[in-house]
Amino acid sequence: MEKMMRSFFLTLGKSSRIGSLARKYGLKLGASRFVAGVEISSAIEAVKKLNKQGKMATLDHLGEFIRGKEEAAHSANMCLRTLKAIAASNANANLSLKLTSLGLDLDSKLCEEHMRTILDAAAKMNIFVRIDMEDYSHCQPALDLYKRLRESYEHVGIVIQAYLFRSEQDVHELGLNRANLRLVKGAYKEAEEVAYPQKTDVDQSFERLIKMHLQSGSYTAIATHDRAIIDTAKRFIKEQGIPVEQFEFQMLYGICEELQDELVRDGYRVRIYVPYGEDWFGYFMRRLAERPDNVWFVLKNMWK
Ligand code: FDA
Repeated sequence: MEKMMRSFFLTLGKSSRIGSLARKYGLKLGASRFVAGVEISSAIEAVKKLNKQGKMATLDHLGEFIRGKEEAAHSANMCLRTLKAIAASNANANLSLKLTSLGLDLDSKLCEEHMRTILDAAAKMNIFVRIDMEDYSHCQPALDLYKRLRESYEHVGIVIQAYLFRSEQDVHELGLNRANLRLVKGAYKEAEEVAYPQKTDVDQSFERLIKMHLQSGSYTAIATHDRAIIDTAKRFIKEQGIPVEQFEFQMLYGICEELQDELVRDGYRVRIYVPYGEDWFGYFMRRLAERPDNVWFVLKNMWK
């Protein structure tokens, strides 16, 4: 049943027709628990609140379904506006972005140009930029582009998904280049040929990757709400004497806030992923897919 629901929401999240329909109705249906608003001003407000609680943030302008080069340019422009808003408000936040929203599927050269413009601007404002990882078909193109960008820029990082078989090799190679990685379990529906189908295998792979990357001496963002994995990471960090400046925990906006607070109280660096923007639908569907309980939260809210 859980597998069916996950598959249902992931498929729904990919539907651009349903997505544009949902956009018309604004941030209803309970999505505002996971999305910080449609406008940049609400997102900055949310970040400021998090900062007051001792949490850092990474802002993501949601925009996954782009149909042409104009929309890619619009997304790039939104990234620049987000950077400017972070700098202007003095917020403690990074930028997260998706390469498909910058045109990776349309023209990889154009996508690279947008990335270089964004990274040049971010460098001037001293803001770090993280490339989110999308579904498997984009993994190799994203890594190729990341490696090219790393030749010119320091303040850029990428995400590796523990559910992919290839990730151990990727983390090994990226560790040799001191890559700043966000490690996650993985949020998309992938084929059994490329990804572990069983949750226990994904969890084991995740723990291996966290240990490998920490041990390589590279900066590691451990992005999960899984208490068992967080505890394992904390134990390992203590045993190995990994300095607190070499890692951070990351969680999603509106999810497991008590755990976020607990980590802050214990003196760990905590960063919250704060999505905002009109195109919240695909993101929202992935959060529902992860946690069927959220569906009941949404249904309850519909009647309020
Ligand atoms: P898991 O799904 O096993 O959940 C562990 C526990 O966390 C659950 O039992 C529940 O208590 C809580 N929980 C998890 N999800 C919840 C939800 N939606 N609502 C309420 N509670 C929830 N993926 C990707 O493919 N590419 C990417 O770039 C990113 N980026 C990213 C950034 C950050 C900061 C985070 C935290 C996550 C991502 N992800 C991602 C998503 C990631 O791949 C994964 O799908 C989710 O983090 C859920 O997995 P957990 O590690 O939390 O464990």
